[in-house]
Amino acid sequence: MTNETLILAVESSCDETSVSVIENGNQIRSNIVLSQIESHKRFGGVVPEVASRHHVEGITTTIDNALQEAHVTMDDIDAIAVTQGPGLIGALLVGINAAKALAYAYNKPLIPVHHIAGHIYANNLEQGMSFPLIALIVSGGHTELIYMKDHLSFEIIGETRDDAVGEAYDKVARTLGLNYPGGPHIDRLANTGNDTYDFPRVWLEKDSFDFSFSGLKSAVINALHNQRQKNETIIDADVATSFQNSVVEVLVGKAVQACETYNVNELIVAGGVASNSGLRKELSKVCRSHNIHLAIPSAKLCTDNGAMIGAAAHYLYLNNVRADMTLNGNSGLDLEHFVDEV
Ligand code: KG4
Ligand code: ZN
Repeated sequence: MTNETLILAVESSCDETSVSVIENGNQIRSNIVLSQIESHKRFGGVVPEVASRHHVEGITTTIDNALQEAHVTMDDIDAIAVTQGPGLIGALLVGINAAKALAYAYNKPLIPVHHIAGHIYANNLEQGMSFPLIALIVSGGHTELIYMKDHLSFEIIGETRDDAVGEAYDKVARTLGLNYPGGPHIDRLANTGNDTYDFPRVWLEKDSFDFSFSGLKSAVINALHNQRQKNETIIDADVATSFQNSVVEVLVGKAVQACETYNVNELIVAGGVASNSGLRKELSKVCRSHNIHLAIPSAKLCTDNGAMIGAAAHYLYLNNVRADMTLNGNSGLDLEHFVDEV
């Protein structure tokens, strides 16, 4: 017998069915990710009903595979964690019902986890977290700056007023005829083009940590539309470089400003767009010159996965946060208060 705490964590908020076994909140014993991207590609985005169906098809085998790869059985597991929200409600419910069934059948504690808390805690699986810190969340559904003075304390100091940054990437990619999800394609192209377009940088009011990307997205779409009407040749790589430079400049500028205003020297970046090469490069440069320690999970932990949910769940487990069998999905779950409201 050892003293380790093993959490089985389930994530099904969007288009990845993922189950992981996490030891002591920072060691990945297994992390199985069943991606639906191939299936959603033909629709140019995630179709909620199709996503739910794939989760139903994949959840049981994914749980079995996660246990097998971790060389454990359900008897070894101390608690079951699951993403409660935010996300697609039908997709969330598949993971929640599977987690509830396991918790009930094996008489284990059930821990509800906020998806964004999971993205932040992905950092604990690789290099740890040192408080106070600022977290920059950049995903397909979220763009947020969060101040954390300690574990499980989340203060949202800025958020997008319209599109999430990943959403803007996907829409611009679609206008260029690139496959879903478009972010990685734009990222690749951006490394080969020139910044020829002079797209806007939207800073909003002085000292605001909010973001707005819909104006930039419209500027790109309008520019392409005008060029097509005039039969001008469009160099996709130049569009990608100009768009990405605008996004990166604002994200980096606001994140560093937030670190200075809140007097913290640790910046954590999380979510699917955190794997963007332009963002990573600029952040490392600027953070070095401002003496800010930069923590970004490796690419496989930036996109949705069960391991990050297990990492966050460990601290909820230590704080006696538990759900009962009435646990329901919440597509608009509030990050600042979810711990108190359980
Ligand atoms: O965090 P995530 O896997 O799912 C959500 O919770 O939303 O993020 C997915 C988003 C998509 O919009 C995708 O295009 C974007 O992350 N993304 C990227 C890159 N890799 C994924 N965006 C820009 N550059 C990338 N390298
Ligand atoms: Zn996510």
